[in-house]
Amino acid sequence: MSDSYKNQSRKEKWESDVEKVVQKFPERKEKFHTSSDIEVENLYTPNHNSQTYEEGLGYPGQFPYTRGIQPTMYRSRYWTMRQYAGFGSASETNERFRYLLKQGQTGLSVAFDLPTQIGYDSDDPMAEGEVGKVGVAIDSLKDMELLFDQIPLHEVSTSMTINAPASILLAMYIAVGEKQGVEPGQLTGTIQNDILKEYIARGTYIYPPKPSMRLITDIFAYCQKNLPKFNTISISGYHIREAGSTAVQEVAFTIANGVAYVEAAIEAGLEVDKFAPRLAFFFNAHNQFFEEAAKYRAARRIWAKIMKDHFKAKDQRSWKMRFHTQTGGSTLTAQQPDNNIVRVTMQALAAVMGGTQSLHTNSKDEALALPTEDSARIALRTQQIIAQESGVADTVDPLGGSYYVEALTDKIEEQVNDYLNRIEKMGGAVQAVEEGYMQREIHQAAYDAQKRMESKEEIIVGLNEYKLEEEINPDLLRVDEQLEAGQIERTQQIRSARNQKNVDKCLQGLKQAAMSNENVMPYIVEAVKAYATVGEIANVLRNEFGEYSGM
Ligand code: 3HC
Repeated sequence: MSDSYKNQSRKEKWESDVEKVVQKFPERKEKFHTSSDIEVENLYTPNHNSQTYEEGLGYPGQFPYTRGIQPTMYRSRYWTMRQYAGFGSASETNERFRYLLKQGQTGLSVAFDLPTQIGYDSDDPMAEGEVGKVGVAIDSLKDMELLFDQIPLHEVSTSMTINAPASILLAMYIAVGEKQGVEPGQLTGTIQNDILKEYIARGTYIYPPKPSMRLITDIFAYCQKNLPKFNTISISGYHIREAGSTAVQEVAFTIANGVAYVEAAIEAGLEVDKFAPRLAFFFNAHNQFFEEAAKYRAARRIWAKIMKDHFKAKDQRSWKMRFHTQTGGSTLTAQQPDNNIVRVTMQALAAVMGGTQSLHTNSKDEALALPTEDSARIALRTQQIIAQESGVADTVDPLGGSYYVEALTDKIEEQVNDYLNRIEKMGGAVQAVEEGYMQREIHQAAYDAQKRMESKEEIIVGLNEYKLEEEINPDLLRVDEQLEAGQIERTQQIRSARNQKNVDKCLQGLKQAAMSNENVMPYIVEAVKAYATVGEIANVLRNEFGEYSGM
């Protein structure tokens, strides 16, 4: 060992060691980076962390919540294991719900079919071929009663992935609760109710932005008074990421949408500390473990600062970003589906290490079809093994203090804030969406990712490397082809059995409310109780608000 080496600092010695080693073992890549193109250095040390513990991190359950929103996190209560489920008829989905609850899941999450999501009844020509396909078909309150048969709504929280017709399905949930003897004030759950991401990425919108924002804030106002335990919106980044965004864009565009909803609610005359505690979020979990865990930590800190410093919210509950995570559907491969169990495990672990409040784990076969009972069970067991066997839930924010994770959290926060400033300069999220800004950014990111995969700069095991000669064909769930006819018949029976005069009166009342500034929710609740259908109610609003043809 040379004298000069002996006299070097320990860091300089390490640098010399690196120089020597790479002669013989060059590093695998020129540049290592995350999905958001943040450079990944070869080593992180205390010099990478600018903020002091108190400023940057702080304690869990305390502003700015970097380490989690609850003082004890999972030591007191695991995240909710909430599997997204729904297919075919209400009775079929009810069976799957009860199976999953019996297997230990702790929350419900309803997937509706496309006709329901876009406000068409199963017998509408627009619904043909889609009834019960990507989710459960819900036309009338009768279907909703069947969906929750033998499921006590005061004992379980339910998430409903519904946006444009959110007010209708929420009204039906209230009505089912009342039929079970559960007061609206006791109902817990979440309505997704996030129309901006539908314009940006998911596509199940009906009405133009302005009336859509009104419907959303009508739900805020109605729930504030009548459903104080119900989360009124799930501001979603999941679909933005599924459309191809980077992790930074996912957080930035989601928070920008969140800011737009808060502004719209304040403009509608609501007080921030009255509605903000019931805002919720929904993020994705992709494969890059550390970037994903750091992403959630950065998102919590950014939102806390926006709510406290920008909107001057005083109630701590307004500052806390509570979120659900779903593992990344777009990361699943149709090839070698068993490999997806490993991907989902890593992604679920990232969400837990990032402090999620609720989690859905994808099933291994979902790149091919809706999950079978077996694959849905394995997905749930994945969460239960992480919770019960890995030990990661036994201390708060175990990644906290990692030089790399803290540096990544800081970097993500910085890049998200750059986007937020740009979007604010455009006039906010609604304008940015109408100008197609977010869509363009996402499409560019998706294109870059596709190029990296095609050039094999990014390896997807089983897809562009480690392929099989003969692909494996697993058993898949098949939705009964007769389902559509059966659903149509049931809905037509409901129509002929109901008091049509009462339905017409309710729909007329809704029309009047929609034409005025009145909150439409009470009218929709009356209409669903009269067994008016999703399509009939959505059409009253179509006639009043028109349909949006897209950005
Ligand atoms: N200490 C103290 N209290 C605690 C605690 C702790 N450690 N842990 C939990 N609690 C309390 C909470 O404060 C809460 O009480 P509160 O309501 O009185 O405040 C209660 O226990 C329940 O805890 P959470 O609220 O944390 O958990 P939930 O599961 O009830 O809610 C949520 C989580 C994120 C706030 C909620 O919005 C939610 O469940 N979201 C789910 C959304 C969802 O499932 N979406 C699926 C969409 S599928 C989709 O769109 C994809 C498709 O398109 C492909």
